[in-house]
Amino acid sequence: MKIVSVVGARPNFMKIAPFIRAIGKWNREHGNEQQLEHILVHTGQHYDDKMSEQFFTSLNIPPADINLGIGSGSHAEQVGKTMIEFEKVVKQHKPDWVVVVGDVNATCACSITAKKECIKLAHIEAGLRSRDMAMPEEINRLVTDRLADLLLTPDELSSANLLQEGAPEKSVKFVGNIMIDTLEEQRAKAAALSITDIIKNNLHPGHTQPIPEISGDFGVVTLHRPSNVDHQETLAEITGFLVNEAATALPLLWPIHPRTLKQMQTSGLIDQVNNCGRIVLLQPLGYHDLLKLNMEARIMLSDSGGLQEECCVLGTPCLILRENTERPVTLVKNGGVGVLVGNDVAKIRRSFNTIMDAGRLASFRPELWDGHTAERCVKEIVEYVG
Ligand code: UD1
Repeated sequence: MKIVSVVGARPNFMKIAPFIRAIGKWNREHGNEQQLEHILVHTGQHYDDKMSEQFFTSLNIPPADINLGIGSGSHAEQVGKTMIEFEKVVKQHKPDWVVVVGDVNATCACSITAKKECIKLAHIEAGLRSRDMAMPEEINRLVTDRLADLLLTPDELSSANLLQEGAPEKSVKFVGNIMIDTLEEQRAKAAALSITDIIKNNLHPGHTQPIPEISGDFGVVTLHRPSNVDHQETLAEITGFLVNEAATALPLLWPIHPRTLKQMQTSGLIDQVNNCGRIVLLQPLGYHDLLKLNMEARIMLSDSGGLQEECCVLGTPCLILRENTERPVTLVKNGGVGVLVGNDVAKIRRSFNTIMDAGRLASFRPELWDGHTAERCVKEIVEYVG
């Protein structure tokens, strides 16, 4: 059986690493007739060393067999170019399966291409729904899940979403969260790192002030969603809260995404951050560095999807700077650690203060977030009966 799997952007890499390892395990445990041939395609949506290459190295992902070199662009440009290039790959290699992960433009573009070439499609992390059609990732999820033959879900809420939308029961398989496979595999290595070294080695060239003493509690900030960073007023309000309020309570470490950096430089907000002296701007971090910060942080303020899940398993209180989440299983009301605060400063302040008054939370591990999801994904693909 020949499988082509696809990655495109940073959050895909920690999902494909365990899948590739699980294919290797399957091949070691099975005879010749059942061997799986695997081809890894990187669309090249993320191309910087810090957004891409360093994850391949640190997570032991073999180099991509094919890189489509798509790069930056509008959504239509990224999706269109990816489809054109991926079609050539599919025509040449004629795989039995295309496997996509997550919800980035590469996921959607390669799903459409695969199905138009009548190739079976598996989606790992199927069924997540934010119900927010202003979010490009929601469109990618809807398109991908409508097309996929095999919908591999991280939790029962996601399975229920798919069944409610009319997906055939036999194509929906609850396998657990593949990101947690990577977290479990890598947590010991992350735990051994030093926060001081992480800061020293990743200080952003844009950070111009002395580094505040980080000996006790600290918070971590990550922001990259267009809804938070593309509108100058919104970004200014969030930055104002971080600079004038959050940073007075505890120092903040902020690994900054290229999209956010561009906006902060254009608007001059970067100067406010630097002048406050309690926020440390870092370059985009490697997997282990960010995991270590997450393990030790008193609070996470983030609009990332994956970090919500990692906070949940680590017990780090997480303010989700979004109006909705496609990962409700991580919310406090469902036993998790996440609170939706959107980008309304009054709401952010209230929840921030509540968390600062309380302690770290107990970790919460939803069903099948057990480090063995990738093996279940491989098994479902091999055993699939159309
Ligand atoms: C993408 C994903 C998002 C994911 C995020 C993680 C989609 C629709 N969005 O958003 O789901 O959470 O990645 O990072 O696929 N850039 C660089 N270097 C890079 C990559 C990007 O400088 O290696 C710059 C680009 O010039 C671009 C901006 O960052 O202007 C945004 O990149 P893009 O890939 O379009 O989307 P993300 O915001 O990263």
